[in-house]
Amino acid sequence: MSQSEDSSVLRKPYIAANWKMNLDRAKALDLTKTLKARLGDGDDREVAVFAPFVYLADVAAVSQGSPIGLGAQNVHWEKSGAFTGETSAPMLRDVGVDRVLIGHSERRQIFLEKEEWMGRKIRQALDHDILPMLCVGETLDERKKGKVAAVLRRQVRSALDWVEASEIHRLCIAYEPIWAIGTGEVATPDQASEAHSIVRDVIADMFGDAVAGSFRVLYGGSVSKDNVRDLMSVPDVDGVLVGGASLKAETFLPIIEYDR
Ligand code: PGA
Repeated sequence: MSQSEDSSVLRKPYIAANWKMNLDRAKALDLTKTLKARLGDGDDREVAVFAPFVYLADVAAVSQGSPIGLGAQNVHWEKSGAFTGETSAPMLRDVGVDRVLIGHSERRQIFLEKEEWMGRKIRQALDHDILPMLCVGETLDERKKGKVAAVLRRQVRSALDWVEASEIHRLCIAYEPIWAIGTGEVATPDQASEAHSIVRDVIADMFGDAVAGSFRVLYGGSVSKDNVRDLMSVPDVDGVLVGGASLKAETFLPIIEYDR
């Protein structure tokens, strides 16, 4: 399926920062202030930061009154209980979080998060009015073995099994090829296009063409000011999830303003 004119109106460009385990409190707040001042009340693109848990409340206070979305980098699938070290959706909501990353490849690979948890986490986020961004993507080995489509279909299907058609507009997906994350190696526009249309086709299959046409799929993996324009010009790429280049205003602002 390709992008229609109508759907491009619904699919507002989405530029998201994944700060991972970086920055300190002062730097996180400084960067937020800079973004806030620069963005004004602009609403032609959606901008969000996914901050470390311990800074969420402070970033929420600083970003208040601006259009910047505030996200956490993970959430537990239960709303409370004996889960030492975990954070629940109601807790996130409580400190002003409105979105969350689910299944980032670093969570899956380093912390051995299981595929079957993703849908439950999405369910929990939606139930507490938090917008999930599901991360999917293949390893280099899977790509070499021609398994990209199979991997993406499996990851998307198993996670979205927990979502009703009426809720799907509250979600988005970030396609992040694992070989491109933090490596400086970026997917070519053709590779991104292929992967994004695979993801969109699964959405169409599960929820219908109309839903798929308005659903946003972001690209992540070594996005920089030098490649963002090419990536954003791929018809099925609706935004970018940015790690390393989101940590400083001078590298992140040009990404937000990729078309100016
Ligand atoms: P990167 O990270 O931009 O540093 O490659 C992207 C991500 O992991 O979300």
